[in-house]
Amino acid sequence: MDAIQFLKQQHDQVEELFDDFENNDEEKLSLFEQIADALAIHAAIEERWFYPAVRYRQTERHLEEAYDDHLEIKRLLADCMVSTGEPGFDGRLAALMAAVLEHFEAEENVLFPEIERIFDEDGLEALGQQLEAAADVLEEQGNARLSIMPEMEPPPVQP
Ligand SMILES: [Fe+2]
Repeated sequence: MDAIQFLKQQHDQVEELFDDFENNDEEKLSLFEQIADALAIHAAIEERWFYPAVRYRQTERHLEEAYDDHLEIKRLLADCMVSTGEPGFDGRLAALMAAVLEHFEAEENVLFPEIERIFDEDGLEALGQQLEAAADVLEEQGNARLSIMPEMEPPPVQP
């Protein structure tokens, strides 16, 4: 599968999990954890492998926006993770969902088409295989969402 198809497939999976969450009254916590794991894996794949590989003059501005979006999404996700079962949780999840959907739309409508103009099909295919392999490793490790929390902690204060 090529890299763009693979990332769009991840977007679809996250959107389906959001739908499941909204339409189910039970297993809310488990569904939220699945959403959090899927988002953590998706963000890691893009930040560690995809964005560095597609950094060109034509994409640089869009990638800066994408990194900013990811930072915001991880902050919102961390807010949700520390407030499961609390009254403010639903509002926090709604904010997370809105930020994620807006980011997916920007990638699919602006960044991905630009990348498809730069790369040929073989290049996108090879990159896609790398992304899939990296995602498999993270999925096997499990509980990917837990890596979000330490990333969000401020650096220690110097003495
Ligand atoms: Fe992204």
